[in-house]
This record gives sequence, C-alpha cells and structure tokens, in this order.
Amino acid sequence: MAFLLGIDVSTTATKALLIDEGGAVVAVAGSPHELHTPRPLWSEQDPATWWQAAQQSIHEALDQAGLNGGEVAAIGLTGQMHGLVLLDAEGRVLRPAMLWNDGRAGAECDWIRERLGLDHLVEITGNDAFAGFTAPKLLWVRRHEPEVYRRAAHVLLPKDYLRYRLTGAFATDRAGAGGTLLLDLKTRDWSEEMLDALEIPPAWLPPTHEGPAITGEVTPEAAEATGLRAGTPVVAGGGDQAAQAVGVGAVRPGVMALTLGTSGVVFAPAARPVTAPQGRAHSFPHALPGRWHLMGVMLSAAGSLRWYHDTFAPDASYDALLAEAADVPPGCDGAFFLPYLSGERTPHANPHARGVFFGLTLRHGRGHFTRAVLEGVAFGLRDNLALLREAGVPPPTEMRASGGGVQSPLWRQILADVLNAPLTAPQTTEGAAFGAALLAGVGARVWPDVETACESTIICQPIAQPDAASAATYDALHATFGSLYPCMEPLFTGR
Ligand code: XUL
Repeated sequence: MAFLLGIDVSTTATKALLIDEGGAVVAVAGSPHELHTPRPLWSEQDPATWWQAAQQSIHEALDQAGLNGGEVAAIGLTGQMHGLVLLDAEGRVLRPAMLWNDGRAGAECDWIRERLGLDHLVEITGNDAFAGFTAPKLLWVRRHEPEVYRRAAHVLLPKDYLRYRLTGAFATDRAGAGGTLLLDLKTRDWSEEMLDALEIPPAWLPPTHEGPAITGEVTPEAAEATGLRAGTPVVAGGGDQAAQAVGVGAVRPGVMALTLGTSGVVFAPAARPVTAPQGRAHSFPHALPGRWHLMGVMLSAAGSLRWYHDTFAPDASYDALLAEAADVPPGCDGAFFLPYLSGERTPHANPHARGVFFGLTLRHGRGHFTRAVLEGVAFGLRDNLALLREAGVPPPTEMRASGGGVQSPLWRQILADVLNAPLTAPQTTEGAAFGAALLAGVGARVWPDVETACESTIICQPIAQPDAASAATYDALHATFGSLYPCMEPLFTGR
C-alpha cells in the first residue's frame, strides 16, 4: 500500500495530511503560525515559520499513522495564494512574506492598469489588478524598499518556498501562478509581455508546471528534518483554492466549490479560459491540465467570525455563540454586518473597505450580532455567485461546500437559504491538503488522471436544503445588504 502526503501552507497553520490509495485519510496534523499586521493594510508572515510548522506536522502525521517516510509515495503541495516571498541569490529570505490579504499595493494596481490598459491586462491575464496579487506587491517593494528589491533573485509563492526547502528546486504550479498577475491565461505560462511591461526580470520566476507534474525530490537534509525519505517525489500541487476544488471534486464545469475558510470563495471550473467583465472575478488555470476556473474571493469569511469571537466573546465557546444566533430569526431583526474587515477583493475591489455593523437598536443582543456576521458573509458569497453568473457561468448543478465554517449546521443552513441552492459536502474537511494529496497520487501514477482520482475517492452527501420561506426573506434582505456598500464607499478612505 502506498501513502500520499498533502501539505497545506494555510494562513493559520501548516497542515500535513496522509491518505492511502483508496483516498482514506490516515492522519492529519497541523502546526499554527502567527500573522503580523504591523501597519494598517499590511499582512505578513515569516516564511521560516512555515518550514518549522511543516517539519513538525509531517513528523506528527507520520507518527499518527504509524508510518515511516519510506512508505510515502509522493507529496503534493498547496497553500495560501498570491503571497510574495523574496529570496536573494543564495536562497535567503529578504523580508517577511506579504500575504494574499495585504492591501498596501493599491497605487501599484492603478499603475499596472495605466501601463497596460485594463482591457489589455484582462485579455492577457484574465484579471484586473488586485492589491493582494503578487505582482503589485513586488512593485510596492521596488518603490518603497529599493535596497531589498536590488538584492532580489527569486520570487516565490508560500507553498513554493516550502518546495524549495524540501527539494532545493524552484518551481510553481499554474493555478497559483495565475494569482501573480504575470501569467498568460491562455498559454498557462509566464507572459513575456507582462514581465516586460512591469520591468520584472523573467529569471526571478520559477518554471511553471501542471498540478500533478513532478517538480523535484526530497533532499537528504530535508529528509533528516522531516522524517521523509530522500528522493520522495514532490508534485507541483496547486494554489489552495484550486487544490481545494480538486479535494471536493469540483473539476468539471457545473460542479461548483464553496469554501468557508479564513477567506470565502465561490469557484467554478471551466473547460476554457473565461473572464468576468473588467476582470472583476479571478480567472486562473485549474490544478489539472486543460481546465481553468473562475472564482470570487471574499477576504474575511470564517475570518470574520474568528475576529468577532476573539474580540467580543473570547471566553464563550463557538458552540454557545452559534446557539444564541440560532434563536434569532433570519434577517436579525434588521441588523446587518458588512464583512470587509481586511478590505475586499470581489465583487468590491477595495483594500480600504471596512467592516460595518448596521441597523442596531436597543433590542439587539449578542445573538443578533453573531447571526449578522454569519448572514453578512453569506450575502457576500451571494454577491460573488452573482458575479460569476454575470460572467456567463451557468447555474451550478451542485455546490460542494468545505472549510471550517461549514462545520456549523446553522451557517450551512444560512448559506443554502441565502444562495437558494442545496449544498453537499465531501467526507473530509481538509479540502486543500486532500486535493494536494490526490495530485501527488496522480504524479505517482496511483490514478491515471485527476478526474479519476476524484471519482475514486470523494463521496459527497447533502448537508443543507434551502428553506423556501427563509430564502424569500433573504432574497428581500439581500437588496438592503447590497445597497449598504455603495452608500458607504465614499467614507472608506483608508484611515
Ligand atoms: C484566493 C485567496 C485566498 C487565499 C487564502 O485568491 O486569496 O483564498 O488563497 O488562503
């Protein structure tokens, strides 16, 4: 029996997940990291902590499963997208990584749009320039930290830094590469025109690979540090959203993935490159050859609930908070929450957007606040589904939900009601790491291709059906929710 290891460098932790050839999860271990926000709009992590966390979780996962490293046939990597990791020519990290929810590069996005013209930018990359994407952040470093920029020799995404530590190789996957804004969406490789226009040296970028392709092997030093076997192949894997979609089996058009992690995502696989008007949704290659995807991304989804809990009710359990929220009627008696705590990406591309509680009265108690957070996130996801529909994505035949937030039966029900769509969920909740392990399995020829890997291992069950009365209530309330952002937008000045 061969085992496959998926490693996910997420925002909150690096996780290691082991599956067997039947797709059964035999171990999951995670080791947390800190997130630093030293200034408004900034969001950073130290890449060294990812590597430390990975070593710990790999050891722990092997121990849990009672395996030795030699029994792992291949490794797949996934992780938070868009992060900028800068290395010098000796492979040393030059500054803290700037993450996907870092909003400081707004001016650089304007500059990119001016330089290329929005239409042409979308024609090449499929996307508008968003502050969290990698290229704008690299231009920010060029402008604000010229000393760092001068010493740069390698630009990597977070999971590719881990790949470098594991294998010594510089490489990336095409789904993740899409999120840099430097990829040609049609050819699925770096765009010379973008690199030229933004004056970024092509040599700084690693070669791109399809998700199941082998990019290197575990080095003897990394084997020593992790308990893995030297020579174990490491496949390209995928950006976390594409890997998550593989992990829930959203690999062909019609089956959408809905993710309620720190970020919130509506993900539609496509058979060819599709773009939203003005590049307002993200259009990237999928983690399997010959497929693309279009997705809407909210920056604070389950992250909003975590913030709310930690700030207002750190001593209450999530279960207690959610039980209070369940006693409040749909619509929270007029209270709303706008979940733009880290600014927003789609459909409101605005790093200066802010979180808002609206419509409060003396009648509102803690349960209302909690429920308003759950509903506000669901409304934001509905906005993103509408954006994908506007881009021509057909209504989903199935919505497969995953991420920490869907553990809550209440939140699932609110999502089904607000989206007015039935939800299903797969048996494993570690979607991205599981998807990365499946990609590793295809690389190791356990399965002939990604679709077969998904069909052989993923079973989805219904988890929520829309309730007609609540769906109608939410339909009406969504109009109010939708009118709040435009009213407040002029007040979001970034202070
Ligand atoms: C996707 C995105 C987030 C991060 C979170 O575009 O920015 O989902 O990948 O991990």
